[in-house]
Amino acid sequence: MRLSYIAAVAATLGFATAAINQTGNACIVTPLSATSTSTNLDDSDQIKDAFRRCGKNGRIEFTPGDYYVGKVMDMLDLQNVDVDIYGTFIWSKDIQYWLRNSISVTYAGRSTAWRVGGSNIAFRGHGQALFFGNGQTWYDQNRNQGNQNGRPISFTLWKATNVLIDGITWRQPQFWHTFVAHSQNITMTNLDMNATSNSQWSTVNTDGTDTWNSRDIVIRNWTVTCGDDCISIKGNSTNVHVSNVTCHESGAMCIGSIGSNANQPDYVENIVFENIKAYHSSNAAWIKTYPGTGYVRNVTFRNIEFDDVNQPIYISPCIYTGQNCDSSRLRISDIKWENIKGTSRYNIGAGIHCSAAAPCQNLQFSGIDIKKKNGGSAVKYLCSNIQNQASSGLQCTGPCPGNFPQQLNGDR
Ligand SMILES: *[C@@H]1O[C@H](CO)[C@@H](O)[C@H](O)[C@H]1NC(C)=O
Ligand SMILES: *[C@@H]1O[C@H](CO)[C@@H](O)[C@H](O)[C@H]1NC(C)=O
Ligand SMILES: *[C@@H]1O[C@H](CO)[C@@H](O)[C@H](O)[C@H]1NC(C)=O
Ligand SMILES: *[C@@H]1O[C@H](CO)[C@@H](O)[C@H](O)[C@H]1NC(C)=O
Ligand SMILES: *[C@@H]1O[C@H](CO)[C@@H](O)[C@H](O)[C@H]1NC(C)=O
Ligand SMILES: *[C@@H]1O[C@H](CO)[C@@H](O)[C@H](O)[C@H]1NC(C)=O
Ligand SMILES: *[C@@H]1O[C@H](CO)[C@@H](O)[C@H](O)[C@H]1NC(C)=O
Repeated sequence: MRLSYIAAVAATLGFATAAINQTGNACIVTPLSATSTSTNLDDSDQIKDAFRRCGKNGRIEFTPGDYYVGKVMDMLDLQNVDVDIYGTFIWSKDIQYWLRNSISVTYAGRSTAWRVGGSNIAFRGHGQALFFGNGQTWYDQNRNQGNQNGRPISFTLWKATNVLIDGITWRQPQFWHTFVAHSQNITMTNLDMNATSNSQWSTVNTDGTDTWNSRDIVIRNWTVTCGDDCISIKGNSTNVHVSNVTCHESGAMCIGSIGSNANQPDYVENIVFENIKAYHSSNAAWIKTYPGTGYVRNVTFRNIEFDDVNQPIYISPCIYTGQNCDSSRLRISDIKWENIKGTSRYNIGAGIHCSAAAPCQNLQFSGIDIKKKNGGSAVKYLCSNIQNQASSGLQCTGPCPGNFPQQLNGDR
């Protein structure tokens, strides 16, 4: 057995000792902070080094302690690797660095701090791994202005197949917690996420996860507080099963937004959301598209329980702009809502406006039990352009305008 102990002196970082203890293809990593009290530590080089050494047919263990991440990490060729993380990863607050260097993920000008790809990869946090994004710095400098190009997604799976991500906690991510793109057979279980601003500025777009151009995804047992979409299924996602997810302060279970580029169709199909809880959230089970092309079909929202949700069920073909709602050709069909129970903040249970140019087909509702939060009175279900509406199972109480808002600010 080959045993080599590699210790490097990182002189520029205040004489901290980087330690990767490699035995064959197993790397055990100790954080710089274990041997240095410098306030200027950066573990990203030794983290990348560990993945270079042991990221193929190997195992990498991060022992407990604080790992500082001051640079982007891009590792796209991992193969047959088990990664066990017992420590805390802390991303730097150097906004100017990240704005310049975050790795593009092509989707809508977004980028990421850490990109992982390859095949047969397992990241296990054993309930001990913590990814701390120092997001408050981002929320404060962003001042509610929007997505901000270069503001990095915490963790991205990119061209990855056969992946397990398990038992990891995220706090204060810089932007979205996770993103799954161009990937297949991805299982993400037992994750705990929380982005909460402690200042006057909102977190802005700290989604739990977004899937895009990916298939065969399992998401199970997550708890998410995020101020934006909890689980969001974007264009060209197929076969996604989401279960046992609890979302706070979020958009809960969402398809979209998709169809933003009229020249590129977006297809979403075979999606199940079940055993979901949503608290104090904007929406619970909903679909948002631009007036684009492609389709959303075969989606089930089942056993969704919620409390104090602004507008539980919502469909818009013209999200964000409220323009050209009736010219969208992006067809929404074969969608089920089963056992959808809880309280709505105002007097609206559902606002559903489908495009006149491509009416929704085969929407099926059963076990819909939504009451207004204060007083428990009946709510309205507004519907437009649902084909065979009378047999949908939803007792529509009136039409829904094309530009009906996602966020209501009072009774209608
Ligand atoms: C390196 O790892 C091996 C295998 O786990 C262990 O036996 C050895 O004590 C470690 N050495 C150091 C210096 O940590
Ligand atoms: C999917 O990935 C898992 C590892 O997370 C693996 O055990 C399983 O065999 C893969 N399934 C297929 C069909 O390749
Ligand atoms: C669900 O995930 C949490 C971590 O967020 C974990 O503590 C709990 O044990 C998991 N539950 C099950 C049934 O695995
Ligand atoms: C998320 O963090 C905030 C701020 O620390 C805390 O108030 C809230 O309870 C947390 N959410 C959950 C579900 O624990
Ligand atoms: C998922 O939720 C269902 C219904 O609440 C429950 O019966 C089941 O034990 C949960 N499973 C996990 C893995 O948490
Ligand atoms: C979705 O997939 C279709 C067919 O492969 C492709 O033409 C289209 O560009 C993809 N859309 C996006 C937004 O990537
Ligand atoms: C609809 O999606 C479910 C869940 O992915 C799948 O089992 C079923 O076969 C799909 N139905 C059709 C008609 O494709």
